Amino acid sequence: MVEIEAQPDAAPTQMATRGVPLNVAGVATRTAPTDLSVEQPELVFDCREIGVRYNGVRALRDVNLQIRRNAVTALIGPSGCGKSTFLRCLNRMNDLIPGAEVDGVCLYHDEDLYGPNIDAIEVRKRIGMVFQKPNPFPKSIYDNIAFGPRVVGLKDHLDDRIEEALRRAALWDEVKDRLKEGALSLSGGQQQRLCIARALAVEPDVILMDEPCSALDPISTAAIEDLMTSLKTDYTVVIVTHNMQQAARVADTTAFFSTDQGETGTRCGVLIEVAATEKIFTKPENERTEAYVTGRFG
Ligand SMILES: Nc1ncnc2c1ncn2[C@@H]1O[C@H](COP(=O)(O)OP(=O)(O)OP(=O)(O)O)[C@@H](O)[C@H]1O
Ligand SMILES: [Mg+2]
Repeated sequence: MVEIEAQPDAAPTQMATRGVPLNVAGVATRTAPTDLSVEQPELVFDCREIGVRYNGVRALRDVNLQIRRNAVTALIGPSGCGKSTFLRCLNRMNDLIPGAEVDGVCLYHDEDLYGPNIDAIEVRKRIGMVFQKPNPFPKSIYDNIAFGPRVVGLKDHLDDRIEEALRRAALWDEVKDRLKEGALSLSGGQQQRLCIARALAVEPDVILMDEPCSALDPISTAAIEDLMTSLKTDYTVVIVTHNMQQAARVADTTAFFSTDQGETGTRCGVLIEVAATEKIFTKPENERTEAYVTGRFG
């Protein structure tokens, strides 16, 4: 994994992390004052008053959440409270949903992800996503992983890149002798690790995972959980999960979402509490969090 250092004399709109600027026009965007204490890991996302409406109906409001580098952050909460909606705000996937409107500010490495000149394609390259249901392309294992690098022009040393991505996704040993076989011949758990490898192959900074284990058996789930823990050495990981034990096992920080009565009387997702995972599960501040994690609600 190649880390591109920030150039001291680079334009202020250049991303200070791996790769290419997000800002296609090189126009200054709104940035946050930088106040990163030396002890605190670097802030990757600083979400301020994030909300989402679908066709004018508010589904999520006022989410203030900071996500730090090299950590796993879990989003938990009852069905319909906006976990997936929020996750999609972090890589502009809501742009692809007709009728979805995002408000508030989402700073990514101090740069406004929704600024006027941000390239959403570049955003999704830096901030990869893995979905609930594994969705390999109907192509070979090799071509699944090669797809992203080929599209973004990372064509040098492709074999090495593919091996590296499969190793990082803990799949290499199982597939190294069958790279030309169809990806759909893999088991569900292997397919999900293939999708993680596919996301890793374009050298992202962040991996978002929306219930990545919900279709998997316990052994594949354990493999993916181990993987999340090893991935945080090099990446920032955000997962949505309904499995509290999973959040407790893998997450450093846990954010609990729920719903409140919205503007028009409909239910609307809100962030109730965010804290170190151990605190959320043993000594939460909010009684709604406690009711949820102890199984009395949701
Ligand atoms: N594409 C969409 N169009 C309209 N409304 C949507 C859309 N996606 C989500 N919603 C609404 O937004 C709210 C939050 O949905 P979301 O899928 O984010 O919840 P969730 O917490 O991920 O739920 P689950 O745990 O069931 O996956 C719900 O009321 C849902 O109906
Ligand atoms: Mg969801």
